[in-house]
Amino acid sequence: MVEFFLDTASLKEIEEFTRWGIADGVTTNQKIFLSEGGVDFKRRVLEICALVDGPVSVETTRSKVEELIAEAREYASWHRNVVVKIAMHADGRGLEVVHRLANDGIRTNMTVMMTFNQLVLAAKAGATYVSLFYNRSKEAGEDPVQIIRDYVRVAKDDALSAKLIVGSIRTPEDVSVAVAAGAHIMTVPAKILKQMPFSKRTEETIEEFDTAWHDFMALRRRKTAK
Ligand code: E4P
Repeated sequence: MVEFFLDTASLKEIEEFTRWGIADGVTTNQKIFLSEGGVDFKRRVLEICALVDGPVSVETTRSKVEELIAEAREYASWHRNVVVKIAMHADGRGLEVVHRLANDGIRTNMTVMMTFNQLVLAAKAGATYVSLFYNRSKEAGEDPVQIIRDYVRVAKDDALSAKLIVGSIRTPEDVSVAVAAGAHIMTVPAKILKQMPFSKRTEETIEEFDTAWHDFMALRRRKTAK
């Protein structure tokens, strides 16, 4: 069964989708935190962890290997739900960080990935989750749908344990296509999740049934009055 993560750091949004019963985890990044204004970073991460009984991805921001490892250890020490996000850098330093953290038992989400090769390397290095940026990958000229299909098949055949998170979602159709392609996990912004229960025909049908019920009750009242 596909899992849904919330691509947000807003407590209001997390509370709303937790009530829907669809929130399996949360992913954040620097831009998501910027959109929350001047909140206290650690406090907000802990508040999110208290709301969601699942993985909460928190992204590292430093650039050197030892700094990244120290930052990742710090975040991981905050709460058992924290999963540390490490970016896939071209020189392989992110892979080294993920590998060393995996040896320490720290769960990671290797992020900012656009290609199949990046996903496979991250999974081999020991990432717990590998994140494909669906629309950014498309903008880079890749075919994210094929990448999802290929990763899911290879992960199964080669017993790669890293679960595929598909992010950078901009429309409800992106979600449909990625889920149908086999994504293990979708991380979706609130704006898109809110549109997902909607179908014009569903709304029209509910209205049609409401009218029929109203007419039925009116008929019943007239019959019992006779
Ligand atoms: C998720 O982990 C990513 O940080 C996020 O989905 C990126 O989305 P964007 O392309 O809209 O910035």
